Amino acid sequence: MNTHLTILTGHSRGLGLAMAQQLLEAGHTVLGISRQRATGLTEAAPAASGELIEWQADLADGAPVAQQLKAWLQARADMPWQAVSLINNAGMIATIAPLSKSDPADLARALRVGLETPMQLCAAFLQATADWRAARKIMNISSGLGRRAMASQSAYCAAKAGMDHFTRCMALDEAHQPQGARVCSVSPGVIATDMQLQLRSAPAQDFPDRAGFVGLHAQGQLSSPEAAARRLLACLARADYGQEPVSDARG
Ligand SMILES: NC(=O)c1ccc[n+]([C@@H]2O[C@H](COP(=O)([O-])OP(=O)(O)OC[C@H]3O[C@@H](n4cnc5c(N)ncnc54)[C@H](OP(=O)(O)O)[C@@H]3O)[C@@H](O)[C@H]2O)c1
Repeated sequence: MNTHLTILTGHSRGLGLAMAQQLLEAGHTVLGISRQRATGLTEAAPAASGELIEWQADLADGAPVAQQLKAWLQARADMPWQAVSLINNAGMIATIAPLSKSDPADLARALRVGLETPMQLCAAFLQATADWRAARKIMNISSGLGRRAMASQSAYCAAKAGMDHFTRCMALDEAHQPQGARVCSVSPGVIATDMQLQLRSAPAQDFPDRAGFVGLHAQGQLSSPEAAARRLLACLARADYGQEPVSDARG
């Protein structure tokens, strides 16, 4: 049986899809959580690879998913896992506009998907696996924009800055536990996914940095999702993973 379990949000597209594929190829059991299923993922992965379990859920409402995750993990406590990881990868950009033009429900949704739900899933994961002998790790997928402000990106920047900082707090919490989890908030660099397309397609009058994203794409400076996924999973596998609670895995 597989001895590595990875819970991965946002596995249906982009970076998450590439990570799911590589994890399955490495023989992990992957619990993928997105609104959509990852079409073709099991067909694309070799027959002798890991197992994919998919939950379709809207992570704008994280509490029931966190509760379900906790119960699901508790029911698997007796399995001989060597390693269990949570990768909070799902993310979204709110409508790209200055805060003064933003819709309150849209802002709330971006903060819930980007910050509130990752916190709730971390809490559920840490509670359910506290007594497990397996190596426990959490990787939160952050962004350079959590560390650098950008106009028309208030919600995304705030969510990622919050993710970095709660990860620092969680690292301090876990340092006090006998078998604390190793946790890190990692910026993956710029990647050719739907999210970059959304940034390039924003109305220029509302987004002063739009030309910068168009330029990165035109100059071929975006990583492929596959290359970014490889870097992140190599980072997660390192012996010193979690030594720093906030880091960078740029190409
Ligand atoms: N692309 C970049 O240049 C870049 C740079 C820095 C950081 N990042 C970060 O990397 C991560 C992955 O980004 P990406 O570029 O791969 O984005 P993407 O192509 O837009 O994919 C986003 C993923 O998140 C899931 N997701 C979004 N909203 C969701 C919701 N409400 N409920 C459940 N799942 C939801 C989507 O699945 P469904 O639509 O099926 O729900 C999808 O699988 C994000 O955290 C992003 O902030 C990306």
